Amino acid sequence: MLRSVLFCILLAAPAMSQIILDTDSGFFGDDGVALTMLLRSNHAKDLIGITVVYGKVWSSDGVGYMKRTAKFLGRPALPVLAGSANPLAHTPALRRKETGIEFDGAFGLPLPKTNPPADGIDFLIRTIEANPHRVTILAIGPLTNLATALHIRPDLATKIESVVIMGGNAHVPGNASKSAEFNFWFDPEAAHLVLRSAIPKKLLFPLDVCNKAHLTEALFNRVIAVKTPITNLYREDFGNRYPGFLKNRKAESFLWDELATAGLLNPRLITRTESAWLDVDTTFGPRYGAVKLFDKSPIPETTPTTVVLDMDFPKVFETYLAALTARQ
Ligand code: RIB
Ligand code: CA
Repeated sequence: MLRSVLFCILLAAPAMSQIILDTDSGFFGDDGVALTMLLRSNHAKDLIGITVVYGKVWSSDGVGYMKRTAKFLGRPALPVLAGSANPLAHTPALRRKETGIEFDGAFGLPLPKTNPPADGIDFLIRTIEANPHRVTILAIGPLTNLATALHIRPDLATKIESVVIMGGNAHVPGNASKSAEFNFWFDPEAAHLVLRSAIPKKLLFPLDVCNKAHLTEALFNRVIAVKTPITNLYREDFGNRYPGFLKNRKAESFLWDELATAGLLNPRLITRTESAWLDVDTTFGPRYGAVKLFDKSPIPETTPTTVVLDMDFPKVFETYLAALTARQ
């Protein structure tokens, strides 16, 4: 049943060019599920590389986690490259001045002793340059890598086909602070730069839609009922770490990066959107990282963003389960 659902969804998927996954991977988590969904779709070959940013953990660790997941999914040679090691302006010292932060990811962990070279930035630049209007970036962590690439080469903004982002909160509270979602809170200056850029198509999956996609113990149990190397990683992370279903049956979380991935693979799953010009608050204080919406362009040469507000959740969950429980 699940296989036939996946097959139908894959048949419905539109033609796509090349995809780069830009991720703040932790041990597995929603970023690992996103990679699983990509590599178990008929767009698997379109994924040409992964750039890693800090977020849940520092990028030096994230690279290893993504390489392991890619290997378990049968793509050991997929390039996995570290990008920026730090946000553009946010620092651990600034973070210590903030109060009311619900989750601070890597900022709560010891700093890495060394950082791998930031080859991911060069990879982004070279790939976009060599494939004008044919590269889509699926950005599911803080936006530092893309912002840095655009800061070095602003001319490349119009040469990107599209950017699909999980981040921000349009009309609902944040999850890192009261005002801001985690990916945007970690590097507000990067989100500001990307959202104000001239990238022709920007598709945003904010908390507004993610808050409607509950990850429950029942769903967790359906995934781990199938035993594979991928479901073992899933069980360890979602069961014993966050949200900890094996420790607390009532634990709950949401689908985040998985929604952006499902929407990229099958735009027909998106059922309600709004279009607005977006910016992000970069004033250090309680609204640091909050999304600002405008109904007119606030600056020249920026493009609007399509903000996703609703999806066909039954089909999204079918896609999620089919990808995670596939045997290869
Ligand atoms: O706020 C949710 C986002 O923060 C997701 O991308 C999750 O993976 C974390 O990075
Ligand atoms: Ca993420």
